[in-house]
Amino acid sequence: MLRITRYRYNNVPYDSNGKYYYIADGDFVWNPGWQPTQTKLDSYECRHGIGYTRFTSSKNGLSAELLNFVPLSDTCEVNCLTVRNTTDSAKSFKVYSYVEFCLWNALDDMTNYQRNLSTGEVEVIGSTIYHKTEYRERRNHYSYFSVNEKAAAFDTSRDAFIGTYRPASNPAAIENGGCTNSVASGWYPIAAHELDVTLEAGAEKTFVFVLGYAENPVDQKWEAPNVINKAPAKALLAKYQTKEDVDRALTELKDYWTNLLSGYVVNSADEKVNRMVNIWNQYQCMVTFNMSRSTSYYESGIGRGMGFRDSNQDLLGFVHLIPEKARERIIDIASTQFPDGSAYHQYQPLTKRGNSDIGSGFNDDPLWLIAGASAYIKETGDFSILDEMVPFDNDESTKVPLFEHLTRSFDYIVSHKGPHSLPLIGRADWNDCLNLNCFSDTPGESFQTSGPSEGPVAESVFIAGMFVKYGEEYRQLCLHRGLTEKAEEAEKEVKAMYDAVLTAGWDGEWFVRAYDANGDIIGSHKCEEGKIFIEPQGFCVLAGIGVKEGKAQQALASVEKYLDTKYGIMILQPCYTHYYLNLGEISSYPPGYKENGGIFCHNNPWVSIAETVCGHGDRAFEIYKKTCPAYIEDISEIHCTEPYVYSQMVAGKDAAFFGQGKNSWLTGTAAWTFVNISQYILGIQPDYKGLKIDPCVPAQFGDYTIVRKFRGATYNVTIQNPDKMQKGIRELTVNGRSVEGNIVPFEEGVKEYNVVAKM
Ligand code: BGC
Ligand code: NOJ
Repeated sequence: MLRITRYRYNNVPYDSNGKYYYIADGDFVWNPGWQPTQTKLDSYECRHGIGYTRFTSSKNGLSAELLNFVPLSDTCEVNCLTVRNTTDSAKSFKVYSYVEFCLWNALDDMTNYQRNLSTGEVEVIGSTIYHKTEYRERRNHYSYFSVNEKAAAFDTSRDAFIGTYRPASNPAAIENGGCTNSVASGWYPIAAHELDVTLEAGAEKTFVFVLGYAENPVDQKWEAPNVINKAPAKALLAKYQTKEDVDRALTELKDYWTNLLSGYVVNSADEKVNRMVNIWNQYQCMVTFNMSRSTSYYESGIGRGMGFRDSNQDLLGFVHLIPEKARERIIDIASTQFPDGSAYHQYQPLTKRGNSDIGSGFNDDPLWLIAGASAYIKETGDFSILDEMVPFDNDESTKVPLFEHLTRSFDYIVSHKGPHSLPLIGRADWNDCLNLNCFSDTPGESFQTSGPSEGPVAESVFIAGMFVKYGEEYRQLCLHRGLTEKAEEAEKEVKAMYDAVLTAGWDGEWFVRAYDANGDIIGSHKCEEGKIFIEPQGFCVLAGIGVKEGKAQQALASVEKYLDTKYGIMILQPCYTHYYLNLGEISSYPPGYKENGGIFCHNNPWVSIAETVCGHGDRAFEIYKKTCPAYIEDISEIHCTEPYVYSQMVAGKDAAFFGQGKNSWLTGTAAWTFVNISQYILGIQPDYKGLKIDPCVPAQFGDYTIVRKFRGATYNVTIQNPDKMQKGIRELTVNGRSVEGNIVPFEEGVKEYNVVAKM
């Protein structure tokens, strides 16, 4: 994992080292973004848009606007700073910029000082500072920081700019009245510009700063001995020289998002639903597409790559936005599957190879591939993906059609069952922390990789629920390919699993969670702690298990009774109060956190979807609202994470900080909440034959419309609910014609569908 600028791991609460702009104006030194001087400002505002952030602030008769974004098609970040003199006389002041370079490899940068303090190198040409550490040897990439104005001076040595023993809030260069044109050699290379500004009364000036990254072909690294080839940097910088250039790039970025997000637009009486569905939830889904679990405030970016299960689930949230990318992603993921249907738990996005440090053995993984592939086909109608030739473990000689991969996924579960005819859990299922074959008693040992990856006894009711859901998807794909015999076999297997869940997987009031390596029950009233878990209640019911038998409804009532809180549904109760060797990481967390009784936002939508399966629109929506950022913005002091972003976890009622969110942004919660609200509550579900209209809403939700782009056509859907129903479409008309059932059949060539559905 490479970094351009340095991130100080474990640096909270200092939380310093951004890209800083200082304004030195008489007695005041301040920052448009407040950090790092923390000078009290006369006004301050920070706005996050889709792909950009804008800071607006003022101090002592100067106002500043700082706009930050990464343009759509260039490898750089633009920081556009406009300063205005709001007084009625002229003002002279200085603007300083500051970024600190990382010596590329993030892990090496923070550990290998004996070497790294001697490798730093820069070049300075005009107002562009090039960071070229290690370029002399094996790297053919460099970064640079530039401004569109002549700088009065610069610094590239941190010691020169900040000064020794000083913090970034009080740089020596600023105190001494200017930069010293220092050229870094070893130690800590930075880039700082000093700009002299004089503004007449009311005048303003814009500086365009660009932090860029460039690569050269290996044979074109140099323009002279030890002088880097700057052609790509110069070409890029030429595009960002004026405010108009910046405006153009920002407009392009905004247009991109507006267009991307136009594929699902709801207009209901509930402004928060509209805001979350139309903007932020979909945006977060795209962030998980781009970043997976690689870098955020909570993920260091130097550990895991892409998760097999995570990536398939993320796909459920972005497949309608970027279907071609989803297709590519499915092929990449399937290429890391093993011939027996199991899978590398993770793979590296750049090499696209499975990660052997973690290996395989997470027995839910195979089924998520069916989930991803079937969602893609339902969205696009592109069955041809099933014929795509895809290798196992990236070995080109093993290529088979993707459909065969799905068959191996399905067969893996069928051939890996335990004593109760339930699926073997392996290292873990969706809940990475339920490690039933691990038995780790050594501090620091990874729960994910220690112990045997397989055990012949420990079983998962959750995987059983998944099998019923995605086994049925697989059966439908078989039918589509004319494989009736295979479809019948699949039906039999799914039926057998359904029955196993209702017998060995039923505890009397709710679904059991698992059986451990000794065959002892987990998630049952017979257990002392961890009597009830959310996952099997959500997933078994959404798969339809026990609905006709009345058990599904009973399981959901138990969720409400034992797991629900005002901030969402907890993952289990009662929490584990001590470490259990037979359970693993789940019991390593203090009660109320993470998998030990936190409100794991990822599986709250499963329960909400399950409620829609049972026709409970009021309850489904109530669950939706509890973890939905827009509805909890009023309790931001408790919730703590961004009021427009889903978190992985909110502390459960047993935790000291009940209601506090953690791990925002990179979580499967984004995809699943979007699936829940867009498909199950608002009810627009892609299906093989067309768009299914199947809303399940609160009785008081009112009429609403949705514009949905689907397979190149636009669907203008109006849902009317005159009798305040929670579920069920009574009448469906498409382009003025009445249609049987609730599927709007897709017809090649029809570009617009005006749909009215009456509940
Ligand atoms: C976390 C899980 C995560 C796992 C894998 C555990 O420490 O609690 O949420 O899935 O690590 O990285
Ligand atoms: C986060 C992981 O990324 C995901 O794969 C897992 O399912 C959940 N934690 C629950 O353990």
